[in-house]
Amino acid sequence: MEWQCIAPGVDALEWNDRSLCIVEVFGKKITLARFKDQVFATAYSCPHAGAVMADGYIDVQGNIVCPLHRYKFSLEKGRNVSGEGYHLKTYAVKIDAEGVWIGQEKPRFLSWS
Ligand code: FES
Repeated sequence: MEWQCIAPGVDALEWNDRSLCIVEVFGKKITLARFKDQVFATAYSCPHAGAVMADGYIDVQGNIVCPLHRYKFSLEKGRNVSGEGYHLKTYAVKIDAEGVWIGQEKPRFLSWS
């Protein structure tokens, strides 16, 4: 796993009024979601038709809801819980004394070297 620190703390991030924000990490934009004292990270755009996920909202079950067609995705695993068959990419998040970190799997093609 490759990790990148994105902020010195959760409150240093620029959350919108729906507890979502956009950050840039690993050279691309991603979405962060804050739900019940946990932070989750997903792809920037919806896998259905590319809407910006940070323009959506988090429902009471902790799913992120796309602003365009309202497909719902689990914040934890990206599963399309409303059943349309898509998958929202998610990233690992860890919070420690140094700050908020986003993790991604290293590409497999590099693992043989
Ligand atoms: S673009 Fe997200 S549900 Fe259609």
